Amino acid sequence: MKLVVVGTGYVGLVSAATFAKTGCDVVGVDIDAAKVARLSRGECPIHEPGLGELLQEGLADGNLSFTTDLAAAIVDAQIVLSAVSTPTGPDGERADLSAVFAVVDAVAEHATGDLVFINKSTVPVGTGRICEERIEKAIAARGATARVVVVSNPEFLQEGSAVQNSLEPHRIVIGINDGPAKMMAAERMAALYRPFIGEGIPVALMDRESAEVVKYASNAFLATKISFINMMSALCEKVGADVRQVAAAMGQDPRIGPAFLRAGVGYGGSCFPKDVRALVATGRELGLDMAIAAAAQQVNDAQRERFFQAVLAGLSPAATVAVWGLAFKPETDDVRESPALELAAKLVAAGHRVRAFDPAAKPALPGAELCANALEAATGADALVLMTEWAEFRGADLAAVRKLMRGDRLFDGRNAYEPETAKQAGFAYRGVGV
Ligand code: UDX
Repeated sequence: MKLVVVGTGYVGLVSAATFAKTGCDVVGVDIDAAKVARLSRGECPIHEPGLGELLQEGLADGNLSFTTDLAAAIVDAQIVLSAVSTPTGPDGERADLSAVFAVVDAVAEHATGDLVFINKSTVPVGTGRICEERIEKAIAARGATARVVVVSNPEFLQEGSAVQNSLEPHRIVIGINDGPAKMMAAERMAALYRPFIGEGIPVALMDRESAEVVKYASNAFLATKISFINMMSALCEKVGADVRQVAAAMGQDPRIGPAFLRAGVGYGGSCFPKDVRALVATGRELGLDMAIAAAAQQVNDAQRERFFQAVLAGLSPAATVAVWGLAFKPETDDVRESPALELAAKLVAAGHRVRAFDPAAKPALPGAELCANALEAATGADALVLMTEWAEFRGADLAAVRKLMRGDRLFDGRNAYEPETAKQAGFAYRGVGV
């Protein structure tokens, strides 16, 4: 089966490499010619454990190739999977779907026979219908007979464990609506996912609108869980309680569960902030108040700000501040909506000297210095702020770090350290809700 994956970002590249591993003939398409050239040489453009190996394996087996020529790739494809980005649009809330529609229009123009169009990007509910109508109209206009079925197949992978999540997903969600070619689409989706179904991974088959909602509902729910524990962390600080103990005991109730109850500086990344905003906007368009999602976003903003203010209040004027971690979470080089970048900018604006280090992320940090390693960043610093809980930071010898520093302030934005251990190492410690 020939599968064309459009967009070689986190989701597209992982999907392409995973399906190539299961034996599909996969062509990855991207508009970025330099990226296509790198991928074709087996160079992985992102930091994602296991992805480089999978990419090289696919290229060596001949199951995986890359091109910029979308039109040529579509002609003999059975499935076109779109994983292009759907960032927040110019209004600051709704998803910008222009990249999705560009792929849709190419499919409408170049499809020759039966084709399944999978939408893997997170798109507002109803987008699948708009895509299908757009394709049908264009195909009719050029007098062709090709049948294209638009399927919603949301992705749930987490950056940093994307390859494992993709090879062993918790569930596969497939949304197909009734229509004359539904059977064709269902059979191709079953063929695509057969290796996974064979492993006993559950498939949730539903209508397309429900599948589109599942993605937003899942991400907004997880964001809410994080914001809930962050809200409790503020209370814990006021009353002298420890949010880590509260979360652990809450999580023992199987109805609650222990995951996503880590208090910290708030969630970031390319999904939660964008998807929560888009859900609130969709609700508003429909005359609905997505109150819990809106509150999750509000609590997240407030949690960041509360931590930033605590850091700023704890610094002497023109202090030197070491920032450990720039990625929005460990095991990725992704800095999209990362609280660390916002903190660094605020520190610089307040006249402090910022020396930052992240094991993978090397973004431009106006006014700040990017250091070669964690100890270099800490050397001579008045304060250390931990923003991303990379293992190398969690495992740092705090006493040795303290000796390299000038001051004794440690702001732990991820509760990565035991307060007692930090104190024994000579630090004035501040965690989140601890
Ligand atoms: C998320 C979803 O988990 C995934 O299913 C979806 O497909 C895309 O969005 P990702 O953005 O890779 O994945 O990151 P995730 O591991 O979910 O973490 C998101 C943010 O929440 C990070 O900033 C992380 O630091 C924060 N987080 C997570 C917490 O602050 N506390 C927690 O307990 C868990």
